[in-house]
Amino acid sequence: MAATTTLSTESYKGTRDFYPKDMQLRNWMFGKLSETVRTFGYLEYGGPMLESFDLYAAKTGEEIVNQQLYWMMDRGERKIAVRPEMTPTMARMVAGKINELARPIRLFSIPNLWRYERPQRGRLREHWQLNVDVLGGEALDAEAEVLTLAVEIMSAFGGAEKMQARVNHRKLMDHFFSKKMGLTAEQTHKVVKAIDAKDKVDAAKFHGWLAEAGVKPEQVSELEKFFSSSLGDLVTSMPCEGVEHLSKLFAVLEGAGMKVGIQIVFDPTVMRGLDYYTGTVFEIYDTSPENRRAMFGGGRYDNLMGIFGKESLSGVGFGMGDVSLQNFLEVHGLVPKFESEIDVMVTLPKEEFRSTGNLIAKDLRQKGFHVITPLAIGSFGNQLKLANRHEAKIAILFGDDEFARGEVLLKDLRSGAQTSVKKESVTDEVLKLLGERK
Ligand code: HAM
Repeated sequence: MAATTTLSTESYKGTRDFYPKDMQLRNWMFGKLSETVRTFGYLEYGGPMLESFDLYAAKTGEEIVNQQLYWMMDRGERKIAVRPEMTPTMARMVAGKINELARPIRLFSIPNLWRYERPQRGRLREHWQLNVDVLGGEALDAEAEVLTLAVEIMSAFGGAEKMQARVNHRKLMDHFFSKKMGLTAEQTHKVVKAIDAKDKVDAAKFHGWLAEAGVKPEQVSELEKFFSSSLGDLVTSMPCEGVEHLSKLFAVLEGAGMKVGIQIVFDPTVMRGLDYYTGTVFEIYDTSPENRRAMFGGGRYDNLMGIFGKESLSGVGFGMGDVSLQNFLEVHGLVPKFESEIDVMVTLPKEEFRSTGNLIAKDLRQKGFHVITPLAIGSFGNQLKLANRHEAKIAILFGDDEFARGEVLLKDLRSGAQTSVKKESVTDEVLKLLGERK
């Protein structure tokens, strides 16, 4: 006989187990996210966890495809990948029904995604990500809408004052790299990757990458000067399509009541690692230095539909991760104390009470209460202990004298108060104590 091996109870590196208390927090977060995006008329969609490898190879970007993608050959020799992001699936689905979906197409989803990353604060191998995208419509209006929505999401959690959206424009960067710095396309590609990863490394390493890309010291100074520019400076020193677009966008956002300059700022160091962005790009950060990784990332993509041979339909959207959102909420004390999910435990100290107990439980469940019953007969004291262990708010207890009078004992485990009530009025009494179940 083969020797028995003891398996670890740890989950796979970079993934999380969600015990019921963790699920309660997750469901609360996802509930608030979807409630908020639905108020803007975004409709939920879903897609498969496995896609063809080619879907990501086309536009997702080197770092994810070469270093982070989980992929395999299936039994039919097809190269497939576990989704590292949702945008390609969304684009494929939209392209598949391009003439049937009402425009502008507003979509959202909260998929789990997989990236082979070094697990660290804010980054894991499996995470859930709210994806919000709008396709069609005027670029400025659509961008203002998704940025407003991002701020509204943080506001729904009570965190709008503790975040900052940093916005940049790919065309402004292209203009700067080619016209001001005189970089070739290949150099630009390397410099963009270096800037994108700048915050993860020290200054020496960053400068090493620039040197490797053939960027000369005077060009580095030019880059540093550019990094400290305001949008106002650039309007005069570097007029171009990107600067003009961002100036208009900030004006629209200001008009919509956003705190431009505080909540939403121009930041020329925001690059975004994904290859499909073509215009405005942004990232949203926690203002607390404890959470240094971006919470949201997004931008405009003009040519994504092209890979499916469809008309070009431009879109803008963002992804927001659950790991960084949870860190944000914890750092700022914004996670509420959750109530127990168990409302009532109907005890079973003797066989003769079983039928009454079951009928009481049935009636309470019909009103939507969450009711548990013990799955074995047990002493009065033991069952009371059980009710407390399960964090029931109310215990229904049976005493011989009360039962003879057609009554049961109702104990509010939160206050300790105990009353004797007619068995037919248990549900009404519970309703009085707990209110209607939503
Ligand atoms: P992304 O910047 O790769 O964008 O990811 C968006 C957000 O997802 C990040 O800001 C972060 O909160 C979270 N995230 C990413 N990777 C991880 C990870 N390994 N662990 C935990 N959280 C993570 C995209 O994925 C784009 N597809 C978003 C998008 C939608 N753009 C347009 N529409």
